[in-house]
Amino acid sequence: MNGHATDFVYSTLSLADRRKHGVFFSGPAWAKKILSGQKMARWQRFIDPSVGVGDLLIEVCNYLPLEGSSSKTIENWAERLVAIDLRKSFLDIAWLRIQALAVHRHSVEKNQTSDFVFRGLPKSFIVGDALTIDLNLRQHDCVVMNPPYQRIIAPTKSIVGKGKRSAAALHLEHVILQAPPGVGVFALVPDVLRSGSSYERFRREFRKIVDVSSFDPFGAFGNQADIDVAIFAATTKAPTCENQVAKVESAQDKNVGDFFDVSVGPVVPHRTPITGKVYGYLTAKNAVVGKDISLPEEFASYACRVEKGPFVIVRRTSSPSDRKRARSTMVTYSKELLVENHLLILKPKDKKVSTCRALLRVLNDQSTDEWLNNFIRCRHLTVGSLKQLPWING
Ligand SMILES: C[S@@+](CC[C@H](N)C(=O)[O-])C[C@H]1O[C@@H](n2cnc3c(N)ncnc32)[C@H](O)[C@@H]1O
Repeated sequence: MNGHATDFVYSTLSLADRRKHGVFFSGPAWAKKILSGQKMARWQRFIDPSVGVGDLLIEVCNYLPLEGSSSKTIENWAERLVAIDLRKSFLDIAWLRIQALAVHRHSVEKNQTSDFVFRGLPKSFIVGDALTIDLNLRQHDCVVMNPPYQRIIAPTKSIVGKGKRSAAALHLEHVILQAPPGVGVFALVPDVLRSGSSYERFRREFRKIVDVSSFDPFGAFGNQADIDVAIFAATTKAPTCENQVAKVESAQDKNVGDFFDVSVGPVVPHRTPITGKVYGYLTAKNAVVGKDISLPEEFASYACRVEKGPFVIVRRTSSPSDRKRARSTMVTYSKELLVENHLLILKPKDKKVSTCRALLRVLNDQSTDEWLNNFIRCRHLTVGSLKQLPWING
């Protein structure tokens, strides 16, 4: 629970390796500063998209309520916490520490002892890249972060700027652009993001999207990271055409998620293992937008979840400058299919082709483009945005 995890990681990894991936943990003192003055009860879930060994979530868990027993508390925390990191070993350590804290708090605050058996990682502790992952954020989520600070190449059209930029700004951008209104963001970032003239545009653009409650300098980070830091505290704003969106929503009290299960295609080429069994394979290249697929044209043998039609696939890549935000393809083929990770899968709960056709009408409606442009500003559609999409003219 205490500093041993950090000592262990720091003595195992070289400083060069830690610099390359920004492995400089907050420790309890920074974690307290980042979260000080926050009303924890305001938030339902806490998300650290670059969790390390969990220093920020540990601080959160110091405030989360306890249930009747340590195992019930851990069950509850597993539902309220989300953690991402590139390294599984960090997630394992973070989750172990969180469980140890639950047991410790039950012992100290409730005088309860238990022969506790540690559990494996919950589903919400994910090995992944925080710069591309869909966090599926919801209103009342609170993102806590001390992202990596090294300089990396910004993607095209980033509001952070061009060329090599602070990874911290790009991590913050990815979180904020995918967040619906009402998400809290508390981040320890390099002070240059607050004070540097090269980040002026970034600050200006951010203020359009979030209500910044504070962005204050806090001096040197210390711990071998020779850098001044600042703490950013903000909440994502309601979209600018708020009233217009609210009007559409109140007229339609059903959402796509009421009729469809939405998921991301599981095949990540070059990463998903291959087996001997061959299935039809849908990719962003072979699934033509606006067409029906009644027979697959490409085949592959990845070892992962397969899907049976009918369903609708929608391209994840989608920008507000595109003519259509939700570019879709109908799949009527009823045998097992593999689906690439660049596609979102919408499966009708009633398994009917007619429900899929109704969805295509919803996706092609102009108000859907307007709603998506207001709801999600980044260049990727998310599972959450499609689930919450109003069922307009279906
Ligand atoms: C500065 S440390 C902070 C860790 C933790 N949030 C804390 O406050 O102690 C950054 C962490 O981000 C992880 N990381 C680096 N790049 C990442 C990426 N692209 N996606 C997810 N995690 C990443 C590193 O492994 C490291 O654990």
